[in-house]
Amino acid sequence: MSDYTPRPEDRFSFGIWTVGWQAIDVFGPGTRAPMPAERAVHKLAEIGAYGVNFHDNDVFDFAASAAERDERIAAFRKALDETGLVVTTATTNLFSHPIFKDGAFTANDRDVRRFALAKTMRNIDLAAELGAKVYVAWGGREGAESGAAKDVRAALDRYKEAFDLLGSYVLDQGYDLRFAIEPKPNEPRGDILLPTVGHALAFIDELEHPEIVGINPEIGHEEMAGLNYAHGLAQALWHGKLFHIDLNGQNGPRYDQDLRFGAGNARGAFWVVDLIEGSDYAGPIHFDFKPPRTEDDDGVWVSAAACMRNWLILREKVRAFRADPEVREALRDARVDELATPTLEAGETWRSVRNFTPDIDALAARGMAFERLDQLALDYLYGVR
Ligand code: GCO
Ligand code: MN
Ligand code: MN
Repeated sequence: MSDYTPRPEDRFSFGIWTVGWQAIDVFGPGTRAPMPAERAVHKLAEIGAYGVNFHDNDVFDFAASAAERDERIAAFRKALDETGLVVTTATTNLFSHPIFKDGAFTANDRDVRRFALAKTMRNIDLAAELGAKVYVAWGGREGAESGAAKDVRAALDRYKEAFDLLGSYVLDQGYDLRFAIEPKPNEPRGDILLPTVGHALAFIDELEHPEIVGINPEIGHEEMAGLNYAHGLAQALWHGKLFHIDLNGQNGPRYDQDLRFGAGNARGAFWVVDLIEGSDYAGPIHFDFKPPRTEDDDGVWVSAAACMRNWLILREKVRAFRADPEVREALRDARVDELATPTLEAGETWRSVRNFTPDIDALAARGMAFERLDQLALDYLYGVR
């Protein structure tokens, strides 16, 4: 029997808000009691997690007095000390309070933008104090429902202004912290700015401190847009911009399901684990899911543990797949390694290929043998190999 026990070296982390979600949705109130951050920390440690990520308001209320804030942070810190859980990442809640109904860094109201920056800098201080290395920026309500309501080019100017300012703040304070922008196409806004990995990568290029800004792609968010998440991760790695990952489960283009990792598109999950395993990504293996509204407290911990379990199951499968001599042969037959060979020899120029004519009929007739290769992967995924 394989051992799927999570270990610290697996670097599994969870958002405090994931297991703490009360399951309030647009059709009804919560089905679970509020969970103080310190309880989430203790329970996550019990099931074998290594780290946590938190929004400011996962730890203390938006309206907390200074004394209440200190008390809540002290309780969180105590739980971290008692369990040894690491704060890998932190972020700001810029979407729950009604003040953020039209967004935060790109709200039409200038004072909302100024307040959003203040709230973010304040939590960056706490993040740095608690040792977080990544600061996630999900553009929750940065967007619109209607055409004339948002001047998108002006909004992008303001978005850039915000990241330029926050970048200077982190550098001026000497914090060892990098930002990770989390794209999402829609929900809660009809359309959210920086909707996909590609949009976010292009945006980062326009910033004053692009070196400290990368991305935090989420499975569900890319799949809501019908995109291939593993391909998005691969391109982020290619740009040197994969600073963080949000893992969960999604069934195609529909509302943001935030299922536990491994549920939803299981075949997609297989290639995600394969890609990360074969990459130099060294950040946390982070789960951003929501235990369904049907679950009681026990169900919450079953689903959280299952995220890690599914990662470990898939990791075992992708390792076996990559080590299988028949897979290696199928990869050769599919000429996968040939793609790593540059199209031109060293010293060649366009002149070298300007008149190149291969055996066109032979190449056109030659099959790629991809189906055998993919079926070997499916045999592993379906558990018959
Ligand atoms: C979502 C988002 C959020 C963010 C998180 C960090 O499900 O729409 O993933 O969960 O990741 O709030 O700000
Ligand atoms: Mn999501
Ligand atoms: Mn997320």
